[in-house]
Amino acid sequence: MINFPLSIGQLRPWREGDEESLVRHANNRNIWNNVRDFFPYPYTPRDATSWVRSNKSYQQPNNLAIDIDGQAVGNIGFTVKDDIYRYNAEIGYWLSEDFWGRGILTEALPIMTNYIYQNFQVNRIFACVLEGNIGSMSVLERACYRHEAIHRKAAIKNNQYLDEHIFALLRSEYENVTHSAYGR
Ligand SMILES: CC(C)(COP(=O)(O)OP(=O)(O)OC[C@H]1O[C@@H](n2cnc3c(N)ncnc32)[C@H](O)[C@@H]1OP(=O)(O)O)[C@@H](O)C(=O)NCCC(=O)NCCS
Repeated sequence: MINFPLSIGQLRPWREGDEESLVRHANNRNIWNNVRDFFPYPYTPRDATSWVRSNKSYQQPNNLAIDIDGQAVGNIGFTVKDDIYRYNAEIGYWLSEDFWGRGILTEALPIMTNYIYQNFQVNRIFACVLEGNIGSMSVLERACYRHEAIHRKAAIKNNQYLDEHIFALLRSEYENVTHSAYGR
């Protein structure tokens, strides 16, 4: 069973019983404002059921719950792209606002990066961050991701065009990284 300890809590697979805390923590406009529109808002019990059903019981899950005191309070995960982008993994994450600013994602992102490069045939991990999301950008920079590009006004959120910032860490960079976040 996959399980990565954090200073507070752990990363572990999603499981039945997470639905209630998932709704409680995910149903937040301040989270939704920084993620894709497919992330539901309002976040209903039905959304939680379908998320847990589709993410539990994989041998090597793509999504891991951020667990604090037994409660699922966030997610970190990735999707592998297809066609000529099939060696790319897009990483994404969210955390309950109750726990923002405590270094949880700063700790979780290198763990997930290790997990991906050690278990999946991927050559590039990238993240897309909406304009103004300074917290997410600093988490990525601290995990040694490089700020590669700004896709000007590429996204629309709340009827506003927003720049999208692209961050990436190549496998070759990951292998050579010397940073305490990666234990090297
Ligand atoms: C982005 C997010 C995952 C960061 O998680 P976190 O565990 O709070 O991150 P950390 O505490 O490790 O570090 C966050 C950094 O942002 C800062 N920060 C935290 N909350 C902030 C806020 N509301 N506004 C501005 N900065 C904030 C922290 O101080 C820290 O920066 P610093 O150490 O350089 O001062 C979390 O804020 C979140 O879930 N946001 C909504 C969803 C989202 O943006 N997902 C990512 C999409 S790319």
